[in-house]
Amino acid sequence: MCAAGRDPTRMPTADEITQQQKAQWSAAASGWEQWGDWFDRNSGNLAGWLCDAAGLKPGQVALDLACGAGQPSATAARRVLPGGRIVATDLSPEMVAVTRRTAEKLGLDNLEAREMDMQALTFADGTFDAATCRFGLMFCPDPVKGASEIRRVLKPGARFATAVWDVPAKNPFFTSITAVLGDFVPLPPPDPAAPGVFRLAPPGELARVLTAAGFSNVAVESRPITLTYGSLDEYWQIQTGLAAPLRAAIASLSPDKVDQLKARLFDALAAHRDGDAVTLAAVPLCASATR
Ligand SMILES: C[S@@+](CC[C@H](N)C(=O)[O-])C[C@H]1O[C@@H](n2cnc3c(N)ncnc32)[C@H](O)[C@@H]1O
Repeated sequence: MCAAGRDPTRMPTADEITQQQKAQWSAAASGWEQWGDWFDRNSGNLAGWLCDAAGLKPGQVALDLACGAGQPSATAARRVLPGGRIVATDLSPEMVAVTRRTAEKLGLDNLEAREMDMQALTFADGTFDAATCRFGLMFCPDPVKGASEIRRVLKPGARFATAVWDVPAKNPFFTSITAVLGDFVPLPPPDPAAPGVFRLAPPGELARVLTAAGFSNVAVESRPITLTYGSLDEYWQIQTGLAAPLRAAIASLSPDKVDQLKARLFDALAAHRDGDAVTLAAVPLCASATR
């Protein structure tokens, strides 16, 4: 039996996977609180794109799922003023607490944050005028179930906008670490049917999931961005702070091994340096759809 008491030869249930996700993301909440603004500044106004694609307007009541540190929830909360309201939800109570602090810091009293699994929303059918989800859908054990729930709580004709990551080859900001980390800890090949950063990246997969959930007018586009880190050390702090799936693997290494890993990684990043700064490409895959 493993530490959690589960027979390691048995496939984890969807519920167990959701609990693992919750623990992983809760452990990354402080990193998101520290670096969430950096990510938002470097995301090519993705929050604004999502609000546009979801058709957000003043007075609406809209849902943001997997809100993390509070984006695009906070951008959406400004868009629906005056009179509108955003309900932000996340699986992790620690992330929900960060979004609440973000709302307070920004003086957004029309942004409410609640702990909730997007695969089991507790809202009535047809509650919301629009919905957004930035970098969350791919972490559901069953993304069709998550998308179906989102569709269920939208009003007829309401729009949903989401962003996930495109294929690994287009996202060296993430793969730079995994390419080297694999030499230090066993990294099992990603299971295409399990939650993960690139789960919805294969061509056609995001559109398939949204269509299978019952959405219509599904449109998917790539929106390439550039992530700029002030230094190699900042790259390390940000990536290990935000990338919940990598934290446990890195935490299992001795301090010596972490130093070796960093040295190898920093060498590999030499081609991406511009003075002290490090710039890396990233490609969000963005979709909009109608209920
Ligand atoms: C990469 S962060 C994205 C945060 C934020 N939306 C952003 O773009 O800055 C992923 C978030 O998805 C949340 N999450 C993972 N699985 C979820 C689920 N089943 N339901 C709701 N949230 C989930 C995590 O807790 C985490 O906060």
